[in-house]
Amino acid sequence: MAPKSRSKRVAIVTGAGNGIGEGITKRLAKDGWQVVAADLNSPRKVAGIHPVRCDVRQEADLKELVAATRKNLGRIDAIVSNAGVGEGGLIALTHSLAISMGPEVRVNCISPGWIDVSGKKLKKADHAQHPAGRVGVPEDIAAAAAFLLSAEAGFITGAEFVIDGGMTRKMIYVE
Ligand SMILES: NC(=O)c1ccc[n+]([C@@H]2O[C@H](COP(=O)([O-])OP(=O)(O)OC[C@H]3O[C@@H](n4cnc5c(N)ncnc54)[C@H](O)[C@@H]3O)[C@@H](O)[C@H]2O)c1
Repeated sequence: MAPKSRSKRVAIVTGAGNGIGEGITKRLAKDGWQVVAADLNSPRKVAGIHPVRCDVRQEADLKELVAATRKNLGRIDAIVSNAGVGEGGLIALTHSLAISMGPEVRVNCISPGWIDVSGKKLKKADHAQHPAGRVGVPEDIAAAAAFLLSAEAGFITGAEFVIDGGMTRKMIYVE
C-alpha cells in the first residue's frame, strides 16, 4: 500500500479489478479520491489507486482490508461493496443499515441493469431494446456512485437506484 496521506478522501471499492468496480475506481480516482482497490486479483496500480488483494468471502481479509486502510491512509470515507453482491436482501440490508448507521453514515444501493463489461461488439438489437437506446457501460454506474458519495447527495440515504436504461419499466426483453 502507498504511504500515509490524510489529505484526500479515501474510498474502498471491492471487485475493483474489472468491469463496474474498475469503472468506479477510475472515476473516484479522477475525482480526487484515494481509492483502495480490493479484488481477488490485485488490480493495476496507478495514481490515486492502491491495489489490495482481498477475497470478500473471507472475514479475515475484510478485517485486514479495513485495518490496513486505516493504518496506511488514516481514514475511510466511503465503502463501495461491488464484488459478488447477491441481489436477494440487498435492498432490505440497505434500509436497515441506513437506519441503524445514520446520521453518521449514509447507505444506498445501486441496482444495475445490463452493463457491458465484455468489451465485445454487441448487436444493434441489444442496444435498441433499451428505452435509453443503448446497453449500459461501467461509467454509467460510476457516475451514479460518484454522485451518491458526494456532499450533494447528503440528503439521500436508504435509497435504491435502478440504473438500467429503462428496461425494468419496459419489461419486454429481446431474445
Ligand atoms: N455487469 C452487469 O450487467 C451487472 C448487472 C447487475 C449486477 N451486477 C453485479 O455488479 C457486480 C460487478 O459486476 P461486473 O459485471 O463488473 O463483474 P466482473 O466479473 O466484470 O468483475 C467482478 C470483479 O470482482 C472480483 N471478484 C469476484 N469475486 C470476488 C471476491 N470474492 N472478492 C474480491 N473480488 C472478487 C473479480 O476478480 C472481478 O475483478 C457483481 O456483483 C454483479 O453481480 C452486474
